[in-house]
Amino acid sequence: MTAPGRSALLATRPRVLATYAMPPAVERKFQSFANLTVLDGISDPDALLEQCSGHDALVCTLMNRISTEFVQRLPARVKMLATYSVGVDHIEVAALRERGIVLVNTPDVLTHATADIAILLLLGAARRAWEAQTMLREQRWKGWEPTQLLGADLQNKVLGILGFGRIGRAVAERARGFGMRVRTFVRSPERLHNLPEFVDLSGSMEEVLTDSDFISLHLPLTSDTSAWLNAERLALMKPGAILINTARGRLIDEHALVDALRCGKLGGVGLDVFVNEPNMSNELLAAPNTYLLPHIGSATIGAREAMGLSLANDVKAFFARRPLTCQVGTN
Ligand code: GLV
Repeated sequence: MTAPGRSALLATRPRVLATYAMPPAVERKFQSFANLTVLDGISDPDALLEQCSGHDALVCTLMNRISTEFVQRLPARVKMLATYSVGVDHIEVAALRERGIVLVNTPDVLTHATADIAILLLLGAARRAWEAQTMLREQRWKGWEPTQLLGADLQNKVLGILGFGRIGRAVAERARGFGMRVRTFVRSPERLHNLPEFVDLSGSMEEVLTDSDFISLHLPLTSDTSAWLNAERLALMKPGAILINTARGRLIDEHALVDALRCGKLGGVGLDVFVNEPNMSNELLAAPNTYLLPHIGSATIGAREAMGLSLANDVKAFFARRPLTCQVGTN
């Protein structure tokens, strides 16, 4: 039997498969125009491929590795992939393109939630919040002391933002509210629209690394940026600097990071993302001055609903032959 084309589906309801449960408002939205099947959090590619047959669109998350082989084995009927993420590094985009499968993601709607988490990490690492919480919860607190749990100030400190896209910019705006001085490096400043006047663009990437008291990473993960923050670049950072990462764990060489924490080169880290999620490195868990969160950058009710509704709107538009809002490669 041949797969129905997009026009045949105009008359029927598309069949949509989601790998994880979504917020109720999002599932209702999909159900309003599609026959939705929701799996119970499936990440194994073989098991997922088995479930894909008979579906027209797949809603995946960054827990689903969409490799070239996976794409090649997808049933012909699958015409669209919608990823519940802004990042698409878990997806072989070229393989999808080759098979003519359309990909949509969720930019914009998670910008503020993620920028908030970057600030939480920044404050958490600067003020040794995990250590303080642990002391309290383990009943080891003996009372206020002038030298207890001293952390880093933010006022007048330099925050270097690497990757000045939507989220980097939103972090810059928040940091300014804390009296921080913000700098960044962009290869083509002329392509940046409305750069806030308080952001210092002078200097090279190396200078940003060398001169900043805090560094926050907002780069996309690509073959060029994989393990970008390696031992060599970590060595350039200011002694005692604090590193924040809400982008992707693989931007950092985690072993080199652990070494930098152990020897006191870095003053601390605030991380929401890790190299091998959800399997945490024991050496990172045991390293000093870490403030760690389980990839919750976009985890607010508003952001997760908006992400899902954006996907639903695009899936609906695709099968109605209307223009898409967030097609990867065009946004
Ligand atoms: C989360 O990390 C995302 O890419 O949306």
